[in-house]
Amino acid sequence: MKILVINGPNLARLDIRDSSIYGDLNYQELQSLIENSAKTAGFEADVRQSNDEATIISWLHEAADSKIPVIINPAAFTHYSYAIRDAAELLTSPLIEVHLSNPMAREEFRHTSVISGVATGTIAGFGPNSYVLAINALKALLG
Ligand code: DQA
Repeated sequence: MKILVINGPNLARLDIRDSSIYGDLNYQELQSLIENSAKTAGFEADVRQSNDEATIISWLHEAADSKIPVIINPAAFTHYSYAIRDAAELLTSPLIEVHLSNPMAREEFRHTSVISGVATGTIAGFGPNSYVLAINALKALLG
């Protein structure tokens, strides 16, 4: 089964972001970890990254139309993009929200997620392993 993994703004630059917050993997390494973990769980992961809200919305529409489960790290869009929330609400397959860091343990503006209310569940704070846990959650949900 295919799953779509969407990564939002600045996640392709993990190489220069604060590794004490986001972990030691660069984006390419994170992508490989996701692809390999998905394969182990019996999924084929289509892993994408965009800094552009409109692109992420069109990927969510694509997943809604093809009923594909989605793992999304909306990055900073988490905290204010009602447009991404509305697109995510169109999904009929599970949606897992993931974060490398634990936004609740960080600055106050990160304490709000406008996405969580339309997600099946949220996994945050485990570094790159958040994605592995999300893949396992999808496996448990989909059987
Ligand atoms: C993030 C947390 C967000 O607050 C931040 O804007 C990001 C990454 C995370 O994975 O921890 O870019 O989503």
